[in-house]
Amino acid sequence: MDSKNYAAVVQLSDVGTIQVRAIRADDRERILGLFNRLTRRTIYFRFHEPKTELSSEELTLYTQLDFDERVALVAVVGSGDAEKIVGVGRYRRIPDADPPCAELAFAVEDVYQGRGIGSGLLKHLARIAKMSGISVFEGRILPGNSHFLAFLEKSGFPIERLGQIEGLDRYVVRIA
Ligand SMILES: CC(C)(COP(=O)(O)OP(=O)(O)OC[C@H]1O[C@@H](n2cnc3c(N)ncnc32)[C@H](O)[C@@H]1OP(=O)(O)O)[C@@H](O)C(=O)NCCC(=O)NCCS
Repeated sequence: MDSKNYAAVVQLSDVGTIQVRAIRADDRERILGLFNRLTRRTIYFRFHEPKTELSSEELTLYTQLDFDERVALVAVVGSGDAEKIVGVGRYRRIPDADPPCAELAFAVEDVYQGRGIGSGLLKHLARIAKMSGISVFEGRILPGNSHFLAFLEKSGFPIERLGQIEGLDRYVVRIA
């Protein structure tokens, strides 16, 4: 599977569908647009700090991926010049982890939350990860991020709490 060209259609939980595709180097402006539309709360839960901007280096880091160590899928609405990213799910392989493991990060635009976009991104990320030998995802979340915990619990994958690291709650999600 060529995950750099990954594309799928996700059924939303209310009505309709949304396109999911691999992130691309030309998504810088669209990622910045998403960041600028996120509420402070969502930014805080995503980055674990009250971040107000994304640097050029961060935009490069978030959009130019090798699709082996680092993979990201975006959910988009519209097309051509009007295409907008409304959600991102990504993982980063944790070096030398046994079993092979990758750390997750997600952000869905607030007005689009609760419609199944995060779940769709997770399902397709798990497909890509399994193909590259990853059997476990790790989620590190701020204590109090009950939405993300509920989101993991709803995923259908077995999850387990691992304790804390640097003030964050650690959860493992067994995908294989
Ligand atoms: C967590 C997050 C990615 C979930 O994405 P989403 O598209 O809203 O998730 P889904 O619509 O697929 O929801 C799946 C389940 O998660 C739970 N959930 C999601 N959003 C919720 C909310 N606002 N309130 C309560 N539960 C919620 C529900 O159990 C839901 O299942 P249900 O709709 O059958 O009840 C999104 O809320 C988000 O971007 N949060 C802020 C950033 C963050 O916390 N990132 C994680 C750390 S990196």
